[in-house]
Amino acid sequence: MQFHQNVDKFKKIYSNKLNLYTMEYFMNQTFSIIKPDATKRNITGSINKLIEKNGLRIIAQKRIKMTNEQAELFYAVHNDKPFFVDLIQYMTSEPVVIQVLAGDNAVKKYREIMGATNPDNAEDGTIRKLFALNVQENSVHGSDSDENARKEIDFFFNENEIVG
Ligand code: CMP
Repeated sequence: MQFHQNVDKFKKIYSNKLNLYTMEYFMNQTFSIIKPDATKRNITGSINKLIEKNGLRIIAQKRIKMTNEQAELFYAVHNDKPFFVDLIQYMTSEPVVIQVLAGDNAVKKYREIMGATNPDNAEDGTIRKLFALNVQENSVHGSDSDENARKEIDFFFNENEIVG
């Protein structure tokens, strides 16, 4: 009896701790895409330099050619927008570099490093201010919440590809 009570207690503490660690782990990762306009202009390295200079770590990275199906699923939330068809065409036009970035408050931090979606509104020194061509060809994508970061990472990466 005593033994089982202790096991239950241990399991409870352990699973709470695990949840805390898991939450912290999720909060410190974001998903990034270096988009076709950037890979085409051979500026992947310049963008990675800004990411690293600003304190985020690239813990996983792959260069892929996105399929139509992947792009449509990834951007499904925008499928009612007037720019959706163009967006899919653009995202599948050239290779992209997909990444997992890690660091404290990674989602928020990367959004600051990227700057506003429309480069005209982006702060000086941000990736989009420096490199984006226009609101669509805006060089990078970054997750907008911890929840979406997890979904987007899981959509493109297997667990064993995130090596730290
Ligand atoms: P991203 O952060 O990847 O999320 C959706 C993408 O759609 C966005 O970056 C741009 O590439 C594109 N996008 C957003 N707004 C517009 C717009 N008004 N016109 C064209 N493309 C857009």
